[in-house]
Amino acid sequence: MILLVLFFLIRIQLHFHSSIAQILILPLKSQLIPSGSFSKSLNKLPFQHNVTLTVSLAVGSPPQNVTMVLDTGSELSWLHCNDTTRISQPVFHPTQSSSYSPVICSSPICTTRTRDFSVPASCDSNNLCHAVLSYADASSSEGNLAIDTFNIVGSEINGTIFGCMDSGFSSNTNEDAKTTGLMGMNRGSLSFVSQMGFPKFSYCISGYDFTGLLLFGDSNFTWLAPLNYTPLIQISTPLPYFDRVAYTVQLEGIRVGDRLLPLPKSVFEPDHTGAGQTMVDSGTQFTFLLGPAYTALRNEFLNRTTGVLRVLEDPNFVFQGAMDLCYRVPLNQTVLPLLPTVSLVFQGAEMTVSGDRLLYRVWGEVRGNDSVYCFTFGSSELLGIEAYVIGHHHQQNVWMEFDLEKSRIGLAQVRCDLARERIGVFH
Ligand SMILES: *[C@@H]1O[C@H](CO)[C@@H](O)[C@H](O)[C@H]1NC(C)=O
Ligand SMILES: *[C@@H]1O[C@H](CO)[C@@H](O)[C@H](O)[C@H]1NC(C)=O
Ligand SMILES: *[C@@H]1O[C@H](CO)[C@@H](O)[C@H](O)[C@H]1NC(C)=O
Ligand SMILES: *[C@@H]1O[C@H](CO)[C@@H](O)[C@H](O)[C@H]1NC(C)=O
Ligand SMILES: *[C@@H]1O[C@H](CO)[C@@H](O)[C@H](O)[C@H]1NC(C)=O
Ligand SMILES: *[C@@H]1O[C@H](CO)[C@@H](O)[C@H](O)[C@H]1NC(C)=O
Ligand SMILES: *[C@@H]1O[C@H](CO)[C@@H](O)[C@H](O)[C@H]1NC(C)=O
Ligand SMILES: *[C@@H]1O[C@H](CO)[C@@H](O)[C@H](O)[C@H]1NC(C)=O
Repeated sequence: MILLVLFFLIRIQLHFHSSIAQILILPLKSQLIPSGSFSKSLNKLPFQHNVTLTVSLAVGSPPQNVTMVLDTGSELSWLHCNDTTRISQPVFHPTQSSSYSPVICSSPICTTRTRDFSVPASCDSNNLCHAVLSYADASSSEGNLAIDTFNIVGSEINGTIFGCMDSGFSSNTNEDAKTTGLMGMNRGSLSFVSQMGFPKFSYCISGYDFTGLLLFGDSNFTWLAPLNYTPLIQISTPLPYFDRVAYTVQLEGIRVGDRLLPLPKSVFEPDHTGAGQTMVDSGTQFTFLLGPAYTALRNEFLNRTTGVLRVLEDPNFVFQGAMDLCYRVPLNQTVLPLLPTVSLVFQGAEMTVSGDRLLYRVWGEVRGNDSVYCFTFGSSELLGIEAYVIGHHHQQNVWMEFDLEKSRIGLAQVRCDLARERIGVFH
C-alpha cells in the first residue's frame, strides 16, 4: 500500500490581528511509505467561506497545476473548465491535455455511477454525459463528466473521473477566485477517495500555523494517541432528506463545560424522511445544529458568558445568515476571556471545542470601539438545511480518520503542526 502525504493550503484569517493574514503553503514534499435523489437536503454548502481547505495537484498531460477544495461533503470532483468566464482565475484547459477525454452518455460511468447525484446525469446535444451540481443555496454549476490523469505529488492516477464545469458559478467571491475546483471525498462511487480505492484517509488541520496534512492510506503512527471511533450510520432504504453517501455519525448529546444539555437523544436522530442526520463536512466552515439542539446550546452558552462578554444587541445582524449569537469585544482587547468548552458527544467519541475556536471575529464589522465576534455554532434552520453539519473550523487540531473499510470515523485531539513535523514533512 502506498501512502501519500500532502499539505493543505489553508487560507485563514488570524483572529486577533487587524489585517488578514493569508498563508499559503505549497505541497513541498511527498512521502511514499511502503506499506438518492433529494430536494432540499444538503448536497453542498456554498462557497461563502473565507477559510477553505485546499490541496494542490496537477491534472492532464502535460500536467496543469490546480488547487482544489477538500470536501468530504460532496462526491464528484470538478474543475472550472470555461476560460471565457474566468479571466485571470485558475482554469483547467481540457483542450491542452492529450490524456483528456469526455465521458459519453451511454458509458456505465454516466448511467450507473452517477446514481447518488442529487440531479440525475443527462445527455447533452453532443451525446456527452452532462452533470448538474446543485448547492444548498439553490445555485448550481453544470458541465460534462470527463476522464484525465491526476498527478498527486509524483504519483500518476490515470483514468480519474471528474466534472469539467462550464457554467453556473454562483459567486465571484475571493475564495472561488483562487481555486480551480473541488475534490469530492464522500462515500459515493465517483468520489476521489472511492476512485483511488484507498481504504481510509486522514487529515489534520493545524489550529496554530494554518497548515495541515492530508494523508491517503493507513496512518497507524505509534506516537498518535489511540483514536476514538464512532461508527458511520448507514441506512438501507433511500429517504428523501438523507444523504446516503455523506459521512453520517450519531450525535448523542452536547456538553457545555461539564453540563450535558437536557436534550432527548431523539432530537439527534433522523426522522422518517431522513431529515436530521449529522454529517462531518470538511467543505463547510462552521457547525450547524437543528432547532432544539441549537436553541439549547445557544441559551446555555449565553447564560455561561453573561458578565464575561457583552452581547451584540442587534436583532438584524445574523452572521452568514445562520449565526445569531454575537458579541461586542473592545478593539483593543487581544485576548478573549475564558469561555466554557462545548463538546459534541458522539457514539464512542467526542469532539471538544474550546477557546478561540468558539468565537469567530467578523471582519469589517465594528460597533463603536468594539469588534463583533460570533459564536461558531449556527442554526441549520436559518441556513435552510435539514441536517446537523460538523464543519472544519471545529476539526482543527483533531486527527480525523475516515475509515471507509470499517465504516467509522476516528478522532483524537492532537497538535497538527507537531504531527506534521513528526511525520517528517517539512517545508
Ligand atoms: C470574507 O473576507 C472578506 C474580505 O476579504 C470580507 O469582505 C467578507 O465579509 C468576509 N466574509 C465572511 C463571511 O466573513
Ligand atoms: C506547477 O507546480 C510545480 C510545483 O509547485 C512548479 O514547479 C511548476 O512550475 C508549476 N507549473 C506551472 C505551469 O505553474
Ligand atoms: C498513465 O498514462 C500515461 C499516458 O497517458 C502513460 O504514459 C502512463 O504509463 C500511465 N500510467 C499508468 C500508471 O498506467
Ligand atoms: C462559458 O461562459 C460564458 C460566459 O459566462 C458563457 O456564455 C458560455 O456559454 C459558457 N460556455 C459553456 C460551454 O457553457
Ligand atoms: C498498521 O498496524 C498493523 C498492526 O500493527 C500492521 O499490520 C500494519 O502493517 C500497519 N500499517 C502500516 C502502514 O504501518
Ligand atoms: C443561568 O442559568 C441558571 C440556571 O438555570 C440560572 O439560575 C441563571 O439565572 C442563569 N443566568 C443568566 C445570566 O441567565
Ligand atoms: C481599551 O481602551 C479602553 C478605552 O480607551 C481602556 O479603558 C481599556 O483599558 C483598554 N483596554 C486594553 C486591554 O488596553
Ligand atoms: C473610541 O475610543 C476613543 C479613544 O479611546 C474615544 O475618543 C471615542 O469616543 C470612542 N468612540 C466610541 C464610539 O466609543
